[in-house]
Amino acid sequence: MALVYMGSDHAGFGLRGLIARHLRENGHEVRDLGPDSPESCDYPVFARKVCEKVLEDAGSFGILVCGTGVGMSMAANRFPGIRAALCACEFQARATRQHNDANVLCLGERVTGPGVALGMVDLFLSTPFEGGRHQRRIDLFDAAPRA
Ligand code: RB5
Repeated sequence: MALVYMGSDHAGFGLRGLIARHLRENGHEVRDLGPDSPESCDYPVFARKVCEKVLEDAGSFGILVCGTGVGMSMAANRFPGIRAALCACEFQARATRQHNDANVLCLGERVTGPGVALGMVDLFLSTPFEGGRHQRRIDLFDAAPRA
């Protein structure tokens, strides 16, 4: 079972609640970092809250939801050590764990239906990183040689 930090903005509020319930029903530990109401709010604030916690707690995951998932993924990937993946299908959700060791899943409530979103979340949390050549490539994120 996974420790999962969650956050959203107003546009991801409904899907975040649905995912949190689903994860708790399936035995995961969910720490929901808000917001507490669907009032308009700023997604980078919640991306920061979740990313700081994921970086503090080795082995934990983050799930961030906004309208498109794009803003959340941009904000989250500014934190070194965060590998945030914006996914729209189950293939991406599985592959980003296998190949990118993604530790944050970003979803767009205005893009992705609830059934697909829950399927992606389950795959994301249950799929292991494959390591090997993929670890070498991840290591290059922070040490990229200039071409
Ligand atoms: C909010 O209207 C929307 O801009 C936000 O949820 C997100 O999609 C940004 O990338």
